[in-house]
Amino acid sequence: MNSISFSRVSVRVTVDGSDTPKTLLHDFSLNLTERRIGVIGANGSGKSTLLRLINGLVEPSEGSVAVHGDNTVADVRRVRGNVGFVFTDPLSQLVMPTGREDVELSLRRSIRNSKERAARAEVVLDRFGLLHLADQSIYELSGGERQLLALAAVLAVEPAVLVLDEPSTLLDLRNRELLRRTVAGLGQQVIMSTHDLDLALDMDRVLVVEAGRIVFDGDAAGGVARYRELCAAPLPGARLGDVSK
Ligand SMILES: Nc1ncnc2c1ncn2[C@@H]1O[C@H](COP(=O)(O)OP(=O)(O)O)[C@@H](O)[C@H]1O
Ligand SMILES: [Mg+2]
Repeated sequence: MNSISFSRVSVRVTVDGSDTPKTLLHDFSLNLTERRIGVIGANGSGKSTLLRLINGLVEPSEGSVAVHGDNTVADVRRVRGNVGFVFTDPLSQLVMPTGREDVELSLRRSIRNSKERAARAEVVLDRFGLLHLADQSIYELSGGERQLLALAAVLAVEPAVLVLDEPSTLLDLRNRELLRRTVAGLGQQVIMSTHDLDLALDMDRVLVVEAGRIVFDGDAAGGVARYRELCAAPLPGARLGDVSK
């Protein structure tokens, strides 16, 4: 039951001004039970769409997705309680002026008593080494500190599953390493999309997405090798290096 299962899922959207729907993800099935799962692939390949299916931000056009047995459409509230989602840009999810307030906000539903909530927020911030920055404006934090804060606010409510959508894209090397160590130390099941191949190599299982299809599903080294191959192949229609004309 402790799995994320995709059963005959496809995702299509109707694009304005077009009669034929666009397929973002073609028919696929997956059962994710490993603790660390990486999703890699080119820009626009469908990684975010795949991740957003997990917490019901995107609904399947066909098929179904279940997280620990809960359907992401019918049981979306329970699913959202179980799945924490961290976006690429932490500023899109940090809504309060300071980290302390943000973590307290995320605890508001689970801890009614404000003193208890404040105490718990301190524990969470401390765990991520962010307590000394708790009352600083989120705009005055570094990108890495902000990303860790977004992670702390999501993990404060202890979701069973953590989804991270390209969490290291905006980070420098030092902050990327900090994020990498933090993710490695988490007890949660983690599903993460990334362009960072070192981060991908830490994973127990890697999916490679290409033009809406899962073209590789296996161990991290194999997935990274497949992704490199795909990147080395010329883009369809590209004429780079063609100097004959
Ligand atoms: N709501 C939407 N409507 C139309 N096209 C979309 C929508 N969401 C994503 N797309 C398109 O689907 C493709 C896959 O997007 P996405 O999953 O965000 O890719 P990735 O995260 O791998 O960059 C892209 O071409 C994107 O422009
Ligand atoms: Mg994306």
